[in-house]
Amino acid sequence: MNELNAMLRSVVDALQQPVFVLTRDLRIIYANRAARALTVQATLGSQRVGAPERIADLHPDLLPPFAIEMAKQTGEWNGEVALPLNGRRPLALTLQVIALQDDSHGVTHFSLAARDVSFEYARKSELQSRNAELEIANQRLKGTQEQLVQSEKLASIGQLAAGVAHEINNPIGYVHSNMATLAQYSENLLSLIKAYEHALQSGSPASHAQTVQQLSQSLDIDFVRSDLPQLIEESREGVERVRKIVQDLKDFSRSDAQDQFVKSDIHRGLDSTLNIIWNDLKYKAQVVKTFGDIPPIECIPSELNQVFMNILLNAGQAIRERGIVTVSTSLDGDHVVVAIGDDGVGIPEELLPKIFDPFFTTKPVGTGTGLGLAISYGLIKKHHGTIDVTSTPGEGTLFLIRLPLRQPGSNKA
Ligand SMILES: Nc1ncnc2c1ncn2[C@@H]1O[C@H](COP(=O)(O)OP(=O)(O)OP(=O)(O)O)[C@@H](O)[C@H]1O
Ligand SMILES: [Mg+2]
Repeated sequence: MNELNAMLRSVVDALQQPVFVLTRDLRIIYANRAARALTVQATLGSQRVGAPERIADLHPDLLPPFAIEMAKQTGEWNGEVALPLNGRRPLALTLQVIALQDDSHGVTHFSLAARDVSFEYARKSELQSRNAELEIANQRLKGTQEQLVQSEKLASIGQLAAGVAHEINNPIGYVHSNMATLAQYSENLLSLIKAYEHALQSGSPASHAQTVQQLSQSLDIDFVRSDLPQLIEESREGVERVRKIVQDLKDFSRSDAQDQFVKSDIHRGLDSTLNIIWNDLKYKAQVVKTFGDIPPIECIPSELNQVFMNILLNAGQAIRERGIVTVSTSLDGDHVVVAIGDDGVGIPEELLPKIFDPFFTTKPVGTGTGLGLAISYGLIKKHHGTIDVTSTPGEGTLFLIRLPLRQPGSNKA
């Protein structure tokens, strides 16, 4: 037995893990070699010299009071402690406390085995702080992306403003000239009325008939009569067109500041976007719309409009002389598919994987920033949709946007 004791003792002594044996009142009566080394480490920097007598002398926080209580009651306690050391990285230990009992099952001693996990601990806290840093960086990036979306939108609106001004100028121009004609016509009509009044007041209106007749002819009243309704209708149309453009601009640029998903009609978005960029497209492309029967979808309309605009502008820019841009929509299960195609220059196969990269552009310096598709991709992703492209150089390009009818997690019917 004694032989075994001696053997066990030398085994424990040689263990790499620190092992202490403590009395019930936590005095140290045995410490193996690793434990003695730990003692040196844990008391380093303190004023104490010589071997500590009690475990609390080693470090006041080494053994939490409840650990002993737990060990007494259940026979064992396992846990982890991190001991702050003066100016050095904390000493992290996993501890195992075992209550040692005598023959009558009374607790007489405790064993305390420790394992130094400082390295893992340091790694873990480093990872945690890295993670926190990444989280912050991520938040910042998100903010930047939103700004980018906003400023790209503003930039393209800036570009479009000139086109829109032109679109508005045209109807305003003919309404303006119609107003001048209308002023002339009213003057003529008023002169004729005056002649009639004069005839009526004269006592013998019939004798004025010829004068009035001549005046009517010289003022071209017959023509005025037929031209007037046309003129008014044309002006009304012009004003209506301006109103529509302004409304579309408003629809388009409405910043959904609260970023709310609302049920919206995609066709309306496509129409107002087409209207807005009409000036860029009309000289180059015939636009063929094939709108399917689709329900409203949950989306942020101004963001989808921006996607449509970026893709439609690209389509127009891909057409050299004259071509066709197709816009079609369809329902595919619980998704809406928007397909925008052109018969322009197409995209070489080796460039296809790059076109959604931020700042990738094949357009001359100062023309494209290469953000249109990158931003569109982000916006479609935000809508839990997908955007795909197929292209044949020399034949054309087709963009397919798939959008879910409802956003995940939404409980709207
Ligand atoms: N319909 C298309 N036909 C041919 N090439 C296209 C088409 N759409 C996109 N591309 C290619 O993808 C590139 C990236 O498009 P993206 O819209 O992201 O940037 P951009 O049009 O060059 O510049 P920006 O849109 O910022 O003004 C384009 O430069 C072009 O080479
Ligand atoms: Mg573009």
